Amino acid sequence: MAKMWDARFSKEENARVNDFNSSIRFDSRMFREDIEGSVAHVTMLGRQGIIGEDEAAKIADALKTIRDDIESGALPIDPEAEDIHMFVEEVLTARIGDAGKKLHTARSRNDQVALDIRLYLRREIGEIRSLLRVLLGTVADLAEKYAGAVMPGYTHLQRAQPVTFGHYVLAYAQMFLRDDGRLAEIAKHVNISPLGSGALAATTHPIDRHLTAELLGMDGVTENSLDGVSDRDFAAELIFALSLIMTHLSRFSEEIILWCSGEFAFVELDDAFSTGSSIMPQKKNPDIAELVRGKTGRVYGDLIALLTVLKGIPLAYNKDMQEDKEAVFDAIDTAKICLELFSSMLGTMTVRTDRLRQAASGGFINATDCADYLAKKGLPFRDAYRVSGKIVAWCAENGGTLESLPLDVYRQFSPLFDEDVYDAVDLDNCVNRRTVWGGPSMESVKRQIALVRAAISE
Ligand code: ARG
Repeated sequence: MAKMWDARFSKEENARVNDFNSSIRFDSRMFREDIEGSVAHVTMLGRQGIIGEDEAAKIADALKTIRDDIESGALPIDPEAEDIHMFVEEVLTARIGDAGKKLHTARSRNDQVALDIRLYLRREIGEIRSLLRVLLGTVADLAEKYAGAVMPGYTHLQRAQPVTFGHYVLAYAQMFLRDDGRLAEIAKHVNISPLGSGALAATTHPIDRHLTAELLGMDGVTENSLDGVSDRDFAAELIFALSLIMTHLSRFSEEIILWCSGEFAFVELDDAFSTGSSIMPQKKNPDIAELVRGKTGRVYGDLIALLTVLKGIPLAYNKDMQEDKEAVFDAIDTAKICLELFSSMLGTMTVRTDRLRQAASGGFINATDCADYLAKKGLPFRDAYRVSGKIVAWCAENGGTLESLPLDVYRQFSPLFDEDVYDAVDLDNCVNRRTVWGGPSMESVKRQIALVRAAISE
């Protein structure tokens, strides 16, 4: 097929080269943004008197019809086209003739694609933020329901101190809130218009870049034309933010995978979010959580791919930059499906509070509270720590727990022990007396839930 730029060429492109060069397979998903950008551009050309206002209106109308036709399927995307920009322009010219040829005045595909990708990412960031909010709502619901469900907290995957299931999952809410804040910041970097940078050196036509930016609802224009066409920092930032979202989802997935093992049995996944084995009839596997954990690696790969594309290219546009799209699109698609399915899996999961309490009761996770009891009675903490450690060793050898150890045995270790020690080592008290800001007490959990709910209703 003849190319728009074939004027200086004497041979047709090799077919394999055409395939290799073409980006239509993946950039056609930006057709709406491409047309949105072109409509703004042509409107500005008309208002500035660079082309006739009537021509501008005719082009804009035709562009909108092209968009509608692609949407309805009436206009199939030509897989042989070089990219979405060329495709739209070719259809435009075929439909309205000479007027269509004026659309590209004072513009290059370099600033065009830089704009399209920003518009596309702007919309996707909005969608990802909505998915994060759904997830945050699910976490808040879980936290509310299990605000008082005592469970062991771990360090080194060893039972450490008591917390509640509500407090536990709210730790993830904090991560997702930070993720949302990061996306809000990145959205500001994205929403700046590079249009008017031209191929690299702007243009001699009297365009109004601020007007196109305003028509597109963007917050400003880029300050340097060379940077305007070659900057993809915002895309790298977005993939990094998505990588962190995946990191958080992956850690949470790992917990869920452990928790639904027979060894923990803290939770049970809904049948709709589990899979069976082709040979072992008893199996119920947490495949969704495992896939989320596994797909995290591919998003990291997308980040490294884009950073590597950018690291060696001189200013300004180089065709290497076409490789930005598959990386950022894949990261977006992957993160979105993971966020969506993870939320549904979490929302339908059954929590076994009996198992949580059982695990909390067996592992001396109140030994610190026993030491704190003595410290509050005046024993220096280091000495109190030793006494509590000796009691744990005694229980481990002779059987027993801190909750059930007779007072006379307690007193063999320190005369400071009294009846109120049972109150101090009671698991619910251990949690609820941790009223420190950020701690696991009911009061603190309720405050955290309120913060999450306020953030998502903003
Ligand atoms: N398909 C190209 C891309 O994605 C559009 C820009 C092409 N510019 C050029 N000078 N060949 O980067």
